[in-house]
Amino acid sequence: MPTVRFVKQDLTVECPVGTNLRALALEHEVDLYAFPANLINCRGRALCGTCRVKVGDVRAVSEMTAEQAKKVGWEGPDYRLACKTQVLADVEIITNPRTTKQGWTQHQTYKWMQDLPY
Ligand code: FES
Repeated sequence: MPTVRFVKQDLTVECPVGTNLRALALEHEVDLYAFPANLINCRGRALCGTCRVKVGDVRAVSEMTAEQAKKVGWEGPDYRLACKTQVLADVEIITNPRTTKQGWTQHQTYKWMQDLPY
């Protein structure tokens, strides 16, 4: 069985191949969400994007789906929505990762603003 190491929590757990990462985190009381998203989130429907995590090895988790790409794809290939990610092999997970690209203007939705002449 693969092991998942939640780096910030210093917690390592085993799970069967194909386990949903969000379910695994919640089962082991890992603080997947930052406040207030721990109270208000989409409950695993890939709508809110608050369950985003950074994975140590992208080959150890399921591929980024189109719905994930909309939410976290702009941050890089090693970001995932925990609610739509399955564990395939041993992996390290960083919950609530700091973004490498600062600011909402870096989101692909707002790229057009950078081309404005004013
Ligand atoms: S819980 Fe909302 S996107 Fe994952």
